[in-house]
This record gives sequence, structure tokens and C-alpha cells, in this order.
Amino acid sequence: MPAAPKQEEVVAVLNRLLEAELAGVVRYTHYSFLVFGFGRIPIVGWLREQANESLLHAQQVGEWITTLGAYPSLAIGPLLDSHQTDVGAMLRESLEAEGNALRLYRDLLALVEGHSVGLEEFARQMIHAEEMHAAEVDKMLRKPGQLAAFAPPP
Ligand SMILES: [Fe+2]
Repeated sequence: MPAAPKQEEVVAVLNRLLEAELAGVVRYTHYSFLVFGFGRIPIVGWLREQANESLLHAQQVGEWITTLGAYPSLAIGPLLDSHQTDVGAMLRESLEAEGNALRLYRDLLALVEGHSVGLEEFARQMIHAEEMHAAEVDKMLRKPGQLAAFAPPP
């Protein structure tokens, strides 16, 4: 089994995750203002649900940071904005951003695996949630009748 991770390394990954999840809150909220057309109501509802879920994830990550006795970052992750009001472009941007968060949760798991049941369980739950989310977005990016995945699984 690899040596126990340094606390600073774990906190650093958690802080990047906090920033990424907070960026998700802003990004999904921003997108939700820009949906026009017949599909607006369900799409706005879905985008706001994603904003709420990102906020919940950010709160869970932040609680872990203070549980470890560290200081939560007040910064925010990169906000991609291609200034598009096209839902497909929003979904492609969000797939990319969610892929980054997923990689960070995998980094967290690799650090804590075998050393902290609580953090390991948390990382696995979040990987599960983010993978399911990416799968849903991928299906939304397919054309009706198209079976092949839009992008390879992250
Ligand atoms: Fe998330």
C-alpha cells in the first residue's frame, strides 16, 4: 500500500474541486438565462437542477476541507463562456468542465484510497455521480436515433 498522502496534497485537490463545483454553480445558472425556444422550460429546469447539485457538491467538499482543519478556497474555477445561446454548445462546454471535475475526484480517490474510509467513500460517490451526469449529457448530445456515444466516456 502506498504511503499515507500528505494532508496538504489532499486539501489542495479538495480546494480545486471546491473551485470547480462553484464554477459549475455560476456556469449552469448563467446558461439557464440564455435558453430560448419551445424547449426552454424543461431545459431551464434541468440547468437549475445542475446548478443546485454543483452547489451541494461544493458544500460537501468545503465541509471536508474544514473537517481536515484547513481553509477553504474563495477562488472560483475557470468559467468557460463561448457566448453562445445554443444548448448544444452549453452542453459541450459543460461536458468538458464536468470531465475536469471527474479527473479531480479520481485524483482525490487515488490519494486517499486505503487511508481514509470517509474520504474514499466520498470520492467514490462523487465519481459515481459525475459519471452518471456525464452519461446523461452525452445522451443529450446525440441525435435522436444515434446510438453511438457523442464522446468517449471520461
Ligand atoms: Fe459535481
